Amino acid sequence: MELIASTADIPEGELIESRAGDKEILIGCVDGQYFALEDVCPHAWVRFGFAQLDKTTLTCPWHGLQFNVLTGECLSWEGMPEITTFPLTIEDGQIFLNDPESKDEGS
Ligand code: FES
Repeated sequence: MELIASTADIPEGELIESRAGDKEILIGCVDGQYFALEDVCPHAWVRFGFAQLDKTTLTCPWHGLQFNVLTGECLSWEGMPEITTFPLTIEDGQIFLNDPESKDEGS
């Protein structure tokens, strides 16, 4: 596991930029649920930049596609690849990314 942030650093409803290994990631919290996803939009393979978050829906600023931040699923274009999401473990207010290469493990 890799320590990526403290829960105190992640305000509810906001996205925080961070790194995990060689990947740029975004970390956020919605209704007390923390998530981490790769900071790459699968539409044009660019960073999300100033993406907006509305509950669990992230809107890409480049062309407006919307994604579920918990699952990575694209909500507005069927067949669009998912955003890569990462399983997290939260312990004592610390956020650990379980494995940057896997989304099948987690807690
Ligand atoms: S780059 Fe994200 S919607 Fe086009």
